Amino acid sequence: MTSQSAAGLAGVVVTETQKSKVDGDIGKLQYHGYNILDLAEYAQFEEVVYLLWWNKLPNKAEFEAFEQKLAKLRHIEPEIVQTMKLFPKDTHPMAALRTAVSMLGMWDPNADDNSPEANYEQSCNLLAIMPTVVAAWSRIRKGKEPIAPREDLTLAANFLYMLHGTEPTEAQIDAIDAYLVLLADHGLNASTFSARVTVSTLSDIYSAVVTALGTLKGPAHGGANQKAMEQFMDIGSPDKVDAWFDDLIANKGRIMGIGHRVYKAEDPRATILRDRTRKLAEEGDSKWYDIAWQLEQKARAHEYFLERNLYANVDYYSAIVLYQLGIDVDLFTPLFAMSRVAGWCAHIAEQWEDNRLIRPRADYVGPLDLEWVDLADRD
Ligand SMILES: CC(C)(COP(=O)(O)OP(=O)(O)OC[C@H]1O[C@@H](n2cnc3c(N)ncnc32)[C@H](O)[C@@H]1OP(=O)(O)O)[C@@H](O)C(=O)NCCC(=O)NCCS
Repeated sequence: MTSQSAAGLAGVVVTETQKSKVDGDIGKLQYHGYNILDLAEYAQFEEVVYLLWWNKLPNKAEFEAFEQKLAKLRHIEPEIVQTMKLFPKDTHPMAALRTAVSMLGMWDPNADDNSPEANYEQSCNLLAIMPTVVAAWSRIRKGKEPIAPREDLTLAANFLYMLHGTEPTEAQIDAIDAYLVLLADHGLNASTFSARVTVSTLSDIYSAVVTALGTLKGPAHGGANQKAMEQFMDIGSPDKVDAWFDDLIANKGRIMGIGHRVYKAEDPRATILRDRTRKLAEEGDSKWYDIAWQLEQKARAHEYFLERNLYANVDYYSAIVLYQLGIDVDLFTPLFAMSRVAGWCAHIAEQWEDNRLIRPRADYVGPLDLEWVDLADRD
């Protein structure tokens, strides 16, 4: 880059937010002042959503009313399910989710109402229905009928129920709920920024979430959890880690799930998930944890990773947690989306509270003042 521009907008502050603070130098993350370590330990995902949307933790009555409101919104329009049955069966779940969310907007008669009241209703709608869409597509593509959502379960428990058709255990619910808490918001990450750009034009919230889903899908962002698991599967067994790592270094490859634009210390979410993965591994098959742990140790001991402050990020160990729970690998990024939609909606509302069109500039570095040449006269 020859101009003064900041490649990838690295370090550029473009707005203020009350939603989350990412302190990359010391590896600390807070949602509206609450440490992620406490939230992962004590909060249920819906409480965290309330915190992000209302800038305060709910009291008991507020929490119960919020939970019930969300639970009632879980059902998808039958027409949307019918349309999903026409998708090619090998459609990636992120593409299916992106398309279904676009359809949700078509079925909402108030989709173009940008008032705070309508925005809140639409946010609830999106948060409640996205798990139903993800679970439905997971079944439809395997030739199975979707399972209707239940209103008596938490969002995490209901998702697992719709996915597998059986009552999840407390340990499974707890693992998914903690995962959802950890991924709910993260400053001005790429997908959140893209959602803010979309609503800054006064477009609608469904369009913004479609934009954000498309952005999250990339392997440099939310797609990394799937790629991280595929890399562990490619390694195959703990005794192959050394050779795989040497090959990666020789070919200047990237370890998926390592490195972060903001964290130059360990991502606190990775610390929590490593611990959970280890505990799950102690109770069952430890192969995937062993591969991930050994690969991480190789990287932490290598000067290339040390010089660049490259640590495991949230996607590295979350891939193993989700795999240990029997979630299909290509559903990992949609699960990320089911959580991050909380942050997207929080930021969309915040953007609209004090909106100005987001429209940066580019330094033009191409040729100037060229003379027109007729088509017939061009080389
Ligand atoms: C997350 C990520 C995109 C951040 O990118 P960024 O801030 O633009 O940083 P860069 O891509 O410029 O990387 C900086 C340096 O570290 C290296 N690097 C970054 N991540 C790396 C990784 N996972 N493995 C090996 N090297 C890596 C780059 O090659 C670059 O080296 P160089 O300075 O010699 O060119 C990047 O770390 C990455 O691709 N990680 C893997 C994908 C991933 O896990 N994404 C999820 C993020 S939550």
